[in-house]
Amino acid sequence: MARAQGARRLLAAAALLGFLQASSSFEVKDSSGKVCIIADLTVDFSVEYKSRGQKEFAHFFLPQNATVEPQSSCGSGNTSHPILVLGFGAGHSLSLNFSELADKYQVEELVFHYNLSDATLFHNSTAGEVKRVSHKTIIQAYVGTKYRCISSKHVNMKNVNITFSNVTLEAYLTNGTFSMNKTECAEDMVSTTAVAPTTPKQTTSQVPTTSPAPTASPPNPAVGKYNVTGPNGTCVLAYMGLQLNITYPKKDGKMGLDLLNFIPHNTTFSGRCDNTSAFLNLTFEKTRVIFHFALNASTEKFFLQGLNVSTTLPSEAKVPKFEASNNSMSDLRATVGNSYKCSAEENLQVTKDALVNVFDVQIQVFKIDGDKFGAVEECQLDENNMLIPIIVGAALAGLVLIVLIAYLIGRKRSHAGYQTI
Ligand SMILES: *[C@@H]1O[C@H](CO)[C@@H](O)[C@H](O)[C@H]1NC(C)=O
Ligand SMILES: *[C@@H]1O[C@H](CO)[C@@H](O)[C@H](O)[C@H]1NC(C)=O
Ligand SMILES: *[C@@H]1O[C@H](CO)[C@@H](O)[C@H](O)[C@H]1NC(C)=O
Ligand SMILES: *[C@@H]1O[C@H](CO)[C@@H](O)[C@H](O)[C@H]1NC(C)=O
Ligand SMILES: *[C@@H]1O[C@H](CO)[C@@H](O)[C@H](O)[C@H]1NC(C)=O
Ligand SMILES: *[C@@H]1O[C@H](CO)[C@@H](O)[C@H](O)[C@H]1NC(C)=O
Ligand SMILES: *[C@@H]1O[C@H](CO)[C@@H](O)[C@H](O)[C@H]1NC(C)=O
Ligand SMILES: *[C@@H]1O[C@H](CO)[C@@H](O)[C@H](O)[C@H]1NC(C)=O
Ligand SMILES: *[C@@H]1O[C@H](CO)[C@@H](O)[C@H](O)[C@H]1NC(C)=O
Ligand SMILES: *[C@@H]1O[C@H](CO)[C@@H](O)[C@H](O)[C@H]1NC(C)=O
Ligand SMILES: *[C@@H]1O[C@H](CO)[C@@H](O)[C@H](O)[C@H]1NC(C)=O
Ligand SMILES: *[C@@H]1O[C@H](CO)[C@@H](O)[C@H](O)[C@H]1NC(C)=O
Repeated sequence: MARAQGARRLLAAAALLGFLQASSSFEVKDSSGKVCIIADLTVDFSVEYKSRGQKEFAHFFLPQNATVEPQSSCGSGNTSHPILVLGFGAGHSLSLNFSELADKYQVEELVFHYNLSDATLFHNSTAGEVKRVSHKTIIQAYVGTKYRCISSKHVNMKNVNITFSNVTLEAYLTNGTFSMNKTECAEDMVSTTAVAPTTPKQTTSQVPTTSPAPTASPPNPAVGKYNVTGPNGTCVLAYMGLQLNITYPKKDGKMGLDLLNFIPHNTTFSGRCDNTSAFLNLTFEKTRVIFHFALNASTEKFFLQGLNVSTTLPSEAKVPKFEASNNSMSDLRATVGNSYKCSAEENLQVTKDALVNVFDVQIQVFKIDGDKFGAVEECQLDENNMLIPIIVGAALAGLVLIVLIAYLIGRKRSHAGYQTI
């Protein structure tokens, strides 16, 4: 049904181990001649095989004259996926099976068939069969962007290592050519930031941004004081600095980082409580964070069970509206009637893309006598920090004791000495 065609391109070739390394371009077209997959890539194979009981390695590249096999297809609706099958030599083939999920497409499965009877690649091989190896999800990009990865990407399978490099690839094409926008692989983005070693802060430099260059992390947020009144008076009392850290895809395919400090006097708060749950809603400009506290009745402890975050991302974001929620958390825990306190920064993970960082937090939920914090339960991080001075103090006290004992023994001896003389 689908017609496939291979295109070759002459390139500056590099000789390595006697084989030719070159990137080649391949296209898959549907029955009407519309291009749906373009792949421009260099593929390097390393295969371990047996030769009279001995291990041998075959090393070769995907040749430029590899052909787009007839099994290649653009897929049809929801019944079959696009697939690119590249054949070369005596029955070897590399297949890239694509799939689409939400706004992304990926190489869902990579399959490599190799024919051990081919003596030109597998010299003196004693096994003669065609072998198959495969690997799940190796490449992912946003629909409407080309995937670009100049860096080498290694895919390790049983007896076979495949290395992709200088890859430009796109599936689900609508326009017959590569899209202008691209999704760059993480490996390339790391090497881009490595070239600009100007930011010593490890916080923002980890997620490279295009413009402006990674800036130093913002100062700690100011501490805000928030409370919620329930049927029986104050049921949430929270003092904390609040910072949001959101990682998001940008229109140019790169990743952006949104670090936002809540400014307490511009933050409005509200909430509600019942016997076993309490909500604190904080709104700062277009950003809202909802804290959901719960009661563990068996242990008589309150804890943060959930966080909902919604915000509007900078205009460079691919999707401006951001929402994240997690309702299976277990943080900021203390006994009812006491308060939870932490001077150290705590990073509350909402989703893999969203962190709520709290600073200098003191919080009490459900039972708050006299609208004031009860006894303090310090967080582990603070206790660990306090442990150092305690250890140093204990060591000093021990030293003083040893000196004192030594002095007393010495005095007793000299005293005894006087008596004998
Ligand atoms: C596949 O698509 C057809 C038409 O678009 C639809 O009728 C059918 O229910 C779909 N099947 C599945 C499994 O989604
Ligand atoms: C494997 O290679 C041998 C030797 O080149 C060839 O005769 C055979 O047809 C190949 N097998 C396949 C499935 O292509
Ligand atoms: C294949 O085996 C022959 C005979 O043992 C040997 O001379 C030759 O070097 C081997 N070739 C390779 C590529 O290992
Ligand atoms: C990558 O491939 C392109 C063509 O597809 C070629 O022009 C370029 O020189 C290659 N770059 C490297 C580093 O191999
Ligand atoms: C198709 O590609 C051309 C050239 O890259 C571009 O100018 C045009 O906007 C594209 N059209 C669509 C619908 O993406
Ligand atoms: C923000 O989140 C990213 C990704 O999770 C992380 O690498 C970075 O260290 C975080 N920065 C801050 C200041 O929390
Ligand atoms: C490509 O990126 C530009 C700039 O980020 C954006 O304006 C444009 O809408 C994007 N095009 C597509 C098709 O996503
Ligand atoms: C905070 O609110 C004040 C007025 O209450 C306003 O002047 C100021 O611009 C606001 N700051 C921010 C960052 O929204
Ligand atoms: C309020 O106090 C009453 C009486 O002590 C108690 O029965 C009820 O559960 C309390 N309600 C809340 C929301 O704490
Ligand atoms: C209450 O705490 C206990 C002990 O930590 C735990 O086993 C139990 O699952 C908790 N219950 C709820 C509802 O969180
Ligand atoms: C938090 O988000 C989840 C998922 O979107 C939603 O089910 C839940 O009602 C939200 N909670 C609040 C308090 O808005
Ligand atoms: C709760 O907040 C209101 C408004 O800021 C404030 O007037 C009140 O004193 C607070 N109550 C407590 C117990 O902090």
